[in-house]
Amino acid sequence: MSSARAFSLAALAAVVSAQSLNVVNKCSDSVTLFTQTSFGTIDNNVNVAAGATTDMNISNNWDGAINVGTSSTGGPTWDGTTPFSRAEFNFYAVPGSVTYDISLIYGYNVGMEISSSDSGCSAFACTLPSGCPVPGPDGSCYSPCCSSVSACSGGALPAGGGGCTSNAGPGPNSPFYYNSCYNAYAFPDNDGAAGYTPADNVDFTCGNTDITLTLCPGTTSNIPK
Ligand SMILES: *[C@@H]1O[C@H](CO)[C@@H](O)[C@H](O)[C@H]1NC(C)=O
Repeated sequence: MSSARAFSLAALAAVVSAQSLNVVNKCSDSVTLFTQTSFGTIDNNVNVAAGATTDMNISNNWDGAINVGTSSTGGPTWDGTTPFSRAEFNFYAVPGSVTYDISLIYGYNVGMEISSSDSGCSAFACTLPSGCPVPGPDGSCYSPCCSSVSACSGGALPAGGGGCTSNAGPGPNSPFYYNSCYNAYAFPDNDGAAGYTPADNVDFTCGNTDITLTLCPGTTSNIPK
């Protein structure tokens, strides 16, 4: 009896402590993943071939972001001078859980979905439709903070403030983004911080830390707040 109980507790502990972040590249071209870190560790400058899946080898306390580069978008500055899609994860704040979001404040180059192996956790997905107000190369779309390509030439969120109000509130093209992808950040405070509106459902905290980031999922979620 007591050994069976010990076994089940050990199995439970193993499940709780397991964390993983896999990237599935469903796009028709390879991508380069530029990662940024506040806490913990993750692989960086990772090339993922079309159709491939890569384990990002995160530490269990990783807090940071994955920025997607293609041959013509993303780097080298990673400031929105060319558009890129960004996925943000925090495994650090609450051990055993992860908070995640899709951020389009630097623009968009590939569609994204963030999901966990627990279907009770929201799977946020964004695939932009046509109609981007400031199109970039290869189907990309410039930051919602930029009214033109030249307005992004110093970055989407320059230190002195860009086209998004105080680098926090909506920018000139935020409506296209928040009307197209309800569960992705269309401006920095799209979560309702500082009282900016609309305050959309863009963050989810999941108690299952087995996470998949799918690129080019071909889907868009619309999960109400
Ligand atoms: C993660 O670690 C494994 C084992 O060391 C390695 O084969 C793989 O290439 C690593 N993934 C990345 C993205 O570097």
